[in-house]
Amino acid sequence: MVTGHVQWDDRLATGVGAFDAAHRELVDLHNRIVWACEHDVSVSDVRERIRTFLMYARWHFHEEEEYMRRIRYPGYVDHKTDHDRLLDDAGDFVTSLGAALTREDGPAIVSYFSFWLTRHMTEKDRALRDFLADTDAASRG
Ligand SMILES: [Fe+2]
Ligand SMILES: [Fe+2]
Repeated sequence: MVTGHVQWDDRLATGVGAFDAAHRELVDLHNRIVWACEHDVSVSDVRERIRTFLMYARWHFHEEEEYMRRIRYPGYVDHKTDHDRLLDDAGDFVTSLGAALTREDGPAIVSYFSFWLTRHMTEKDRALRDFLADTDAASRG
């Protein structure tokens, strides 16, 4: 049994409806990777799920960055740097899996993306949420 299923939790909420919807979608797409790694699916299906997850993450990061610029979020550079690093690192990780991806790679894939997603949401996205809670920036968004 592969662990790494991420459970949506209101503590992950930012209070910005569009971002919370996107974060829920990211959690769901991540859990689809976990499911694929736990079940007897093809390696190409696992790859496709990773590709979809990262495409969605890229789109979401872009939306979040536009919003942070608009409200002049003071943590913008740090947050965007983390987005960029996440995408670069995920690209390297996928490349490192190479063409010879096997079912035995499942636990590594799951633990990698679980950490990848939850660390950012509980540190950087939470800092954004705390900033919004302390200001009326959410209503300006
Ligand atoms: Fe973010
Ligand atoms: Fe986010």
